[in-house]
Amino acid sequence: MKFFLDTAEIDDIRELAASGLVDGVTTNPSLIMKSGRDIFEVTREICDVVDGPVSAEATALDYDGILREADKLYEISDQITLKVPLTVDGLKACKYFTSQGRMVNVTLCFSASQALLAAKAGATFISPFIGRHDDISQDGMALIEDIRVIYDNYDFSTQILVASIRHPLHVVDAARIGADVATIPPAVMHKLFKHPLTDNGLDAFLKDWEKTGQSIL
Ligand code: E4P
Repeated sequence: MKFFLDTAEIDDIRELAASGLVDGVTTNPSLIMKSGRDIFEVTREICDVVDGPVSAEATALDYDGILREADKLYEISDQITLKVPLTVDGLKACKYFTSQGRMVNVTLCFSASQALLAAKAGATFISPFIGRHDDISQDGMALIEDIRVIYDNYDFSTQILVASIRHPLHVVDAARIGADVATIPPAVMHKLFKHPLTDNGLDAFLKDWEKTGQSIL
């Protein structure tokens, strides 16, 4: 399973990328707003820090407008994955760019039927927003299961990119189902490392080691 970071905070990206466990980054207009940075400047910086795909979202709603914005976003780097909304024009743009060999991430997916359309449009990634489903008392993870079955039935190459992740269990459940990618907020990524028994065990080992009076170096 690939791990993307779901943020435009360059310091967080730098810190976590140093772990060697980050395979890409996703951004959206809200994350760019939170970063307080210029979209081109920060996206370029992210591409310099991380090797894999970096999603940058088009904000135009019509096909021609998406194409115009895409030209500018794709110019930033070969790593750019254009994010388009799951609309008729978004999927039309998706089909156009993926047929040109470009990466496209279809975002704001909330149903299996939408995911099926994105795969037929040749999407590189489909982004089902599971946390927003959970927020309204619907089972976000059930959607991931449905999409996995449908994509496997037809050998679609579109990768399931689980988005709107809120906690570590979302990541574990997505991995159990066989999702291809999880895009994870930095705070949740940090939590993935943590277990109180790891901390307690480490503490006990270090105390005992000190009692031996030995040194490895
Ligand atoms: C990522 O691609 C999505 O835009 C993001 O995960 C949405 O997360 P949110 O529901 O926490 O805003």
